[in-house]
Amino acid sequence: MSTGTVNPNKALWEKGDFTRIAQTMRDSGEALVRDIGVTPGLRVLDVGCGDGTTAVPAAQLGADVLGVDIASNLVAAGNDRAQRLGLDNLAFQEGDASDLKDLGDGEFDLVISIFGAMFAPRPFDVAAQLVRVTRSGGRIVMGNWIPGDPTLVAQILKISSAYSPPPPDGFVSPVTWGVEENVIERFTAAGVPEEQISCKRDSYTFESERSPAELVADFRDYYGPTMNAFAAASSDGRQADLQAELEALFNEQNASDAGTSIPATFLRVSVQR
Ligand SMILES: C[S@@+](CC[C@H](N)C(=O)[O-])C[C@H]1O[C@@H](n2cnc3c(N)ncnc32)[C@H](O)[C@@H]1O
Repeated sequence: MSTGTVNPNKALWEKGDFTRIAQTMRDSGEALVRDIGVTPGLRVLDVGCGDGTTAVPAAQLGADVLGVDIASNLVAAGNDRAQRLGLDNLAFQEGDASDLKDLGDGEFDLVISIFGAMFAPRPFDVAAQLVRVTRSGGRIVMGNWIPGDPTLVAQILKISSAYSPPPPDGFVSPVTWGVEENVIERFTAAGVPEEQISCKRDSYTFESERSPAELVADFRDYYGPTMNAFAAASSDGRQADLQAELEALFNEQNASDAGTSIPATFLRVSVQR
């Protein structure tokens, strides 16, 4: 009999299979990593890395990359990809962005977290941990979805939460990381001067040969937050409403005649240590 308590944050991401969604994000991941300026030999940490949408291209550019993720299935998927691609400068291990206890102070030149650490609990601890593992003079780059933004992911999260039960007391919404004032408050509390923190809007495009409706089905079947919303909706007979709302959103935002191409806006945060 297991005596361990369930970590709901870990359970949420292990429940589905984010690799199915990540496949639609590869081109934007590669473009972002090229834009960040990754050079051979750079020690890079990717927090909430999934199966390596940004960790893999960073390693392909010659950096020494460690991917850390709370979900054991995604860590395994990342290590499989690294092995298949013959990248011996890339490894994935389990860890929690709120408490990176296996990593030493100042171990990394560049710490990236693209739609990853934003989902961890205790955002002030997350900021403190990202700062702690970055060497003085190094950089942190985060990508965070923006609350109330009209584009795809902010709307998926908004629609999903409207069908889900209210979160437990003390829960801090992940999209609070998409508000510049919160980002500044959290990183200054971790000791970074405000003038070393900058935010700008950027875009990621979800690309697939599949139709918008098929992509909605992938989110329903494999993306933790949407899976939970469908579970709650089906228990009060609203599953078809949720499906229709998401299909309308995906169709409305799709810019492709053959398959799906949907751009989504996010807040790109850069912190200079
Ligand atoms: C939306 S996915 C993004 C994955 C990846 N960065 C990408 O761009 O494809 C969110 C990721 O954050 C991870 N995650 C959530 N909470 C975490 C935590 N507390 N610590 C580390 N990773 C976490 C999830 O397991 C998942 O892989």
